[in-house]
Amino acid sequence: MIEGRKAGTPGQMLRCGMVGGGPGSFIGGVHRAALGLDNSAQLVAGCFSRDGDKNRQTGEALRIVEDRGYPDFTTMARMEGRRDDPIDFAIVTTPNSSHFDACRAFLEQGIHVMCEKPLTVTAAQALELKRLARERGCLFAVASAYTGHVMVREARAIIQRGDIGDVLVVMGEYPQDWLIDRLEDNQKQAAWRTDPAQAGASNCTGDIGTHIENMVRYLTGLRIRQLCASLDVIGAGRTLDTNAEILLRYDNGARGSYWCSQVAIGNDNGLKVRIFGTKGAIEFDQEKSNYLKVTLKGQAPRIYSRGAGYLSPASAALARTPTGHPEGYHEAYANLYADFTRAIWQKIAGQDADEAEADYPTLEMGIDGVRFIESCVASSRQGAVWVDVPADD
Ligand SMILES: NC(=O)c1ccc[n+]([C@@H]2O[C@H](COP(=O)([O-])OP(=O)(O)OC[C@H]3O[C@@H](n4cnc5c(N)ncnc54)[C@H](O)[C@@H]3O)[C@@H](O)[C@H]2O)c1
Repeated sequence: MIEGRKAGTPGQMLRCGMVGGGPGSFIGGVHRAALGLDNSAQLVAGCFSRDGDKNRQTGEALRIVEDRGYPDFTTMARMEGRRDDPIDFAIVTTPNSSHFDACRAFLEQGIHVMCEKPLTVTAAQALELKRLARERGCLFAVASAYTGHVMVREARAIIQRGDIGDVLVVMGEYPQDWLIDRLEDNQKQAAWRTDPAQAGASNCTGDIGTHIENMVRYLTGLRIRQLCASLDVIGAGRTLDTNAEILLRYDNGARGSYWCSQVAIGNDNGLKVRIFGTKGAIEFDQEKSNYLKVTLKGQAPRIYSRGAGYLSPASAALARTPTGHPEGYHEAYANLYADFTRAIWQKIAGQDADEAEADYPTLEMGIDGVRFIESCVASSRQGAVWVDVPADD
């Protein structure tokens, strides 16, 4: 652990509980590993699966005491809310359609939440979570984890400093190829993502298009005002998109173009964002997440390396290993947890932090993500027409 990342009181640990993350699941285990990297919190409760045996098995494997392994998240929230030593925050890692009910159950008990993306399946649900979080004084983070990469933090610092000037044009892409085959009949991650009842109104745009949207929002602070989207259903027997092209107009007048795909052969998790400004350009590629390409007008392109001495102090402080020893996905998640648990400790100490200044992706960003998905679906259904993206409520 790096000293600068510590928060809270020596001898005390935050307690957390997890919903989802049962046997064979993808992201629950990533959260748990990330928590462990910095000892950010102790996992003491959970409802890991709707299947009783799998739930128990996971609880036992994770050393959860029997009375804190719950049959469902509603019981978990209610029982934790009654304890003298409740969990400080809940981690929601289930498929999209249950995010709202699970988050609401914990917020109602005054328990802070870290929820996977996309936040909810409708904007109305997302706004209800915002109302509830405010009413109960809860912190809320959305696990758009790529924003935790050191070089994303560096890119944001460079843009905020004005080094690349005003943003003119944004290009974002996230190609994958795993759904080129029909996996949904025997692979659970594919099954729920292609099922509207569990994924929501979009598969590809909701699952990975939102990562582009969130990355651009996080880096530049720009809000999308209008968009025009074509959501393409590629693959026999499917009803939801597996490919999408989206044109965008931002609140400062900048223009953008996003492409996401799950049928682009030769691609794993190719999230790449390029931001072009009046004085320079910046490029981040999550599969090369230890590097950042920065070009200032009239100068040769430079490759910044994570861990190097020339990084800004805030991003330099996040680097865990020297240059050339790669950090990745787990570290990015751990950085979100470091930010989020720091905010919780501040709250416990009575210092209410301004969530607008938070380094982790906030509820506001999660709401923008859901509005982005809804607007893409609406545009595409009307034949790829320009639609306004709702702003604040
Ligand atoms: N931020 C990222 O980079 C990232 C990456 C992958 C997935 N995700 C998000 O994480 C979520 C889960 O995705 P996944 O790929 O891990 O799914 P998964 O199918 O691998 O795992 C989901 C887990 O939730 C459990 N579950 C389902 N309903 C439940 C309920 N009501 N109560 C308790 N447990 C329940 C399942 O049994 C399973 O263990 C999705 O919202 C997805 O969009 C985010």
